[in-house]
Amino acid sequence: VPLEDTSLPLYYGWFLLSSVQEKVKSAAMGFLKTLESLDDFKNHLDDFAGKSVELEQYFEAKAALHCTTKFCNYGKAAGAKEYAQNPAVVKSYGSVFELSLTALFITPRTVGARVSLTEEQLHLWPADGEKEVESDVPAAASLPPGSRAHVTLGCAEGVQSVQTGIDLLQILALQQAEAPAAKELELGSLRYYGEGRWMLELKEPVRAPACFSSFYG
Ligand code: A2P
Repeated sequence: VPLEDTSLPLYYGWFLLSSVQEKVKSAAMGFLKTLESLDDFKNHLDDFAGKSVELEQYFEAKAALHCTTKFCNYGKAAGAKEYAQNPAVVKSYGSVFELSLTALFITPRTVGARVSLTEEQLHLWPADGEKEVESDVPAAASLPPGSRAHVTLGCAEGVQSVQTGIDLLQILALQQAEAPAAKELELGSLRYYGEGRWMLELKEPVRAPACFSSFYG
């Protein structure tokens, strides 16, 4: 393996500054607690394979919150090298951006926050970001670039983080086809997409300063 390939990271992304991590984690906790208290949710508990579920325990929380842009797998992923050499990526490396977390969602597999990228932030989004998971979500390629952008907040036992973006795209594909009726809550509009998929569109997006960088592991 050439040295230049081994020097590529596991992934690039925006890493939430430590000052905002707690804020985002407590917003997520608030979401889970609110959800658990709703009769609508209790009526769909079968989705989570249980009669009673403590969501805070069901999901294993993630330590360092981030929004992945490009998963490079140390250069083994398709397009990794091209991404690393993209002038926008090189120029922005180490800069702080403000991410806007506009929705929170859960499925029986993952809990995450949707990130709505600005035009500037979309320059750092990989061209194949959505297409990559077309085998899991056939409608993915027809969704706008950046649709997959998210922060993984937690995963159920045995579930890998990569699932969060797939779950998000599945919800967005359903939303595009026909959005179900919303329940208006203090935090925002809650919708149920079937099969344990819930999304809360936040009335007040959470603003999260985050450093664009990479992770080597
Ligand atoms: P995500 O961005 O949804 O959190 P892991 O710890 O599993 O090696 O993953 C490291 C990071 O890279 C996680 O943030 C994870 O998911 C993301 N990731 C893992 N595999 C992929 C993939 N195939 N495509 C895109 N992102 C991935």
